Amino acid sequence: MKTFILALALAGANLAQGADFNQQMQGYIDALKREAKVANPNFVDFDYARGEKLFATKNKGKNGEMISCQSCHNADLRTNATNIFTLKSISPLAPSVNPSRLTDTKEVQKWLKRNFKDVFLREGSALEKGDVLYYLIKQ
Ligand code: HEC
Repeated sequence: MKTFILALALAGANLAQGADFNQQMQGYIDALKREAKVANPNFVDFDYARGEKLFATKNKGKNGEMISCQSCHNADLRTNATNIFTLKSISPLAPSVNPSRLTDTKEVQKWLKRNFKDVFLREGSALEKGDVLYYLIKQ
């Protein structure tokens, strides 16, 4: 009975914190962890707070403009946003209001690659990508 109550409590805590990665995405996260561990043997796990900070960090990116990930996805990821370059609308990035987000590994990899180049003019490291995904999945 005690175990049952504990399991319920854990399930509740999980819900309160937002979604978790599906199996496909968890496989990608595990691969990023292995990559991060190769780059830094002291690596333990990705970090929500570092991801949150990275997402808001401004850099002189594409077209020499000072932008961050928030420039195209807003600070509140549950809202519709606008691509600052194409002016096309972007549906919310938060899985809590847009459940298809962070479910398709190929899609996620493609956009992380492009979007890191937009903002930081380079690809993201395994650590950066993992951190930002830990942040995004809980939105
Ligand atoms: C110049 C505008 C722009 C910037 C800046 C930008 N994004 Fe995006 N992002 C997009 C567009 C466009 C898409 C694809 C359209 C869509 O999915 O609605 C996208 C999609 C994504 C996706 C795919 C989510 C999914 O599963 O559907 C992720 C993850 C993402 N962006 C993360 C980031 C991160 C992290 C940064 C900062 C390094 C960033 N974005 C900066 C425009 C941008």
